[in-house]
Amino acid sequence: MKSEKNHLWGGRFNEPTDEFVKIFGASVSFDKVLALYDIEGSIAHATMLSEVDVLTTTELKQILEGLDKIKDEIINGQFSWSIELEDVHMNIESRLTEICGDPGKKLHTGRSRNDQVATDIRLYLRDQVQLITKELERLLNALLDLAEQEIETIMPGFTHLQAAQPISFGHHLLAYFEMFKRDRERLQESFKRINTMPLGSAALAGTSYPINRERTAELLGFERISLNSIDAVSDRDFAIEFASNASLIMMHLSRFSEEIILWSSAQFEFISLPDSFCTGSSIMPQKKNPDVPELVRGKTGRVTGNLISLLTIMKGQPLAYNKDNQEDKEPLFDSVETIYACLRIFADMVPTINTNKDNMYQSALKGYTTATDLADYLVKKGLAFRDAHDVVGKAVSYGLKERKDLSKFTIDELKNFNSLIEEDIFDVISLEGSINARNHLGGTSPKQISIAIKTGRKSIK
Ligand code: ARG
Repeated sequence: MKSEKNHLWGGRFNEPTDEFVKIFGASVSFDKVLALYDIEGSIAHATMLSEVDVLTTTELKQILEGLDKIKDEIINGQFSWSIELEDVHMNIESRLTEICGDPGKKLHTGRSRNDQVATDIRLYLRDQVQLITKELERLLNALLDLAEQEIETIMPGFTHLQAAQPISFGHHLLAYFEMFKRDRERLQESFKRINTMPLGSAALAGTSYPINRERTAELLGFERISLNSIDAVSDRDFAIEFASNASLIMMHLSRFSEEIILWSSAQFEFISLPDSFCTGSSIMPQKKNPDVPELVRGKTGRVTGNLISLLTIMKGQPLAYNKDNQEDKEPLFDSVETIYACLRIFADMVPTINTNKDNMYQSALKGYTTATDLADYLVKKGLAFRDAHDVVGKAVSYGLKERKDLSKFTIDELKNFNSLIEEDIFDVISLEGSINARNHLGGTSPKQISIAIKTGRKSIK
């Protein structure tokens, strides 16, 4: 016979599954990522079953030995995965029965693949979130270190990508620190929802065996147990929440990438990346391309796409489990792998950024970035802000004609615009004067940046 009935669930079937239906429905090619978590879940389930006398201690022993052997086979690449057995769960269960006979057939007592797969994904994500958080923390520390080096480095701050006001480069870097710090908070807050155990919900209604869910949860290190069996097997919102957190991280990395790409161009020349993080062009010998930030910016699309996939997979499903849910794995795994890699490479790259302080400074002198300081100066001398705005507007217009920055005006030129202006203006409209003046919590003065770095270090301890 070309194809046989499935020996795990084929009892009520008279015909074998169509060959292409088998291929179409199989998930083992991708869900084998969950294999070791599946075994971990099975060990806990079997242990609990023996404690409540559903399995004998001999059966348990054989199951545990079999699972141990399978674990070795998987780790050593000797396990032979078969799409005939559809998914990771049935591949492992079938091999267990091959190894230990009848006890292997008893492992699935009081359990369904529905609560099994939900448990596996949560065990997997729990580990992955911890690994991702470590990379995020490396990046946060790298940002603090670089910001500390660049406290006194002045650059133009932009709005509308037009030079707006002088800022410290350290302050600019700390803006990313704040974004990634919130990302870390979000991951940490989501952890307790991931760390909830569905096992025991069985197919959807629970099970008639005298199971001890608290014990299984304890064995698996779950913080909480799901409180509704129907919800527990059908819910994937913990995965969607992760995909959303991952999308925010990528969006932040992408904005940072965009700036690194702009800053390292010949037109900006604010920073340079080392050769080890760039590539050349096969035709243009002069080129040094910032591939790493470009790729990170590009990868943002797939992570956002994964979020939309997961949301869409869920939206039309009636309770409880539906096969649609098998489609949750590839987007989830892809988001996990992508943000791990992007965070890792950023944490490695940020410390290698070389700053071209002089170019940043010269650039900040262009575009009348201290015009607001001149207006504020006039206000402090008694002029209304709107009038001061107008005076400075006229001075800028003159400067544009003469091709001169405000700080390069003579005192007489300045006095022509308003007689309230005196010699002390030069301290105010210099780049240093401008940033030093913004000396309040959250402002760009070097003093405040030092404080912000200290607070930042404490916040991620
Ligand atoms: N491979 C399936 C999944 O990923 C496992 C659960 C299957 N359950 C079922 N009743 N067909 O969702």
